[in-house]
Amino acid sequence: MSIVTSQEMFAKAYAGGYAIGAFNVNNMEIIQGITEAAKECNAPVILQVSSGARKYANRTYLVKLVEAAVIETGLPICLHLDHGDSFELCKSCVDDGFSSVMIDASSKPFEENVALTRQVVEYAHAHGAVVEAELGTLAGIEDDVKVKAEDSSYTRPEDVQEFVERTGCDSLAIAIGTSHGAYKFTRKPSGDILSIDRVKEIHARLPNTHLVMHGSSSVPQEYLAEIREFGGQMRETYGVPVEEIQEAIKHGVRKVNIDTDIRLAMTAAIRRYLVENPDGFDPRAYLKKARQAAYELCKSRYIAFGCEGQGSKIHATPLSVMASRYAD
Ligand code: G3H
Ligand code: 13P
Ligand code: ZN
Repeated sequence: MSIVTSQEMFAKAYAGGYAIGAFNVNNMEIIQGITEAAKECNAPVILQVSSGARKYANRTYLVKLVEAAVIETGLPICLHLDHGDSFELCKSCVDDGFSSVMIDASSKPFEENVALTRQVVEYAHAHGAVVEAELGTLAGIEDDVKVKAEDSSYTRPEDVQEFVERTGCDSLAIAIGTSHGAYKFTRKPSGDILSIDRVKEIHARLPNTHLVMHGSSSVPQEYLAEIREFGGQMRETYGVPVEEIQEAIKHGVRKVNIDTDIRLAMTAAIRRYLVENPDGFDPRAYLKKARQAAYELCKSRYIAFGCEGQGSKIHATPLSVMASRYAD
């Protein structure tokens, strides 16, 4: 097995009516938690790296750690750039062996978004890599960019066909009311904030384009309670209920992005360990607990998204073969 693109994953997910979990990675324990759970569930998985993660861990380490996970698990793993904001960053990741990149030009005017996305598609496809683009803007925090709720905008269904046709992107991130980070909703979201109807409408117009749901952490109340119990301070907040994600999957969502829930799970476990073991100082002891917490979260998400048992059905098609398929 090797690092694979998400093309076959998405095609099979489309046929089977399920979705692939895409989890953000920043270090070895996170990668191990996600991929050991994927191995246990025999689930295909996307590991995604933000530019902040690349700065934190250094570009070589993350690629090598993901390669190690492929060897250790024997699973099809897609290595994806999350929220790339320039052609240069996307090119650099493709050159480093990423099998998928996201160009997020969603804050730019439509024509600029089209032009930049098209430029990335040409380079990535020539190297066999998949491209995710974004239309509409999510609120919340990505790296140093903070988008205020009033500046966010839902994806307009009437724009999507033209955008996908002109850019040639493989998948499309859509804004339907979710946001990045832990502070998504002040109450459990209902249909007026989370627009599953918009997913349905976009899917009807774009039946062959795989839809991506960002900001999909559920912010489980039990993690918040554990963090508070062991000295952390977190305000009241709600995430995206898993049932809403499952509803979106029924209507064309094939990639579900999760970062915050892993952060919360690991933080809760580390806080608990350090409070319960005030004399502990071996990082392996608390990182082991954190890794286990990430594992349990991911396992439950693979099952909820319906991709359990699907991993071994994905072939290890080399990127050079993918490139020649794009060229045909
Ligand atoms: O969408 C943003 C992801 O949660 C990545 O977060 O930029 O802090 O690594 P980060
Ligand atoms: P969360 O902050 O909801 O985990 O979203 C992560 C994400 O969309 C990464 O691109
Ligand atoms: Zn995102």
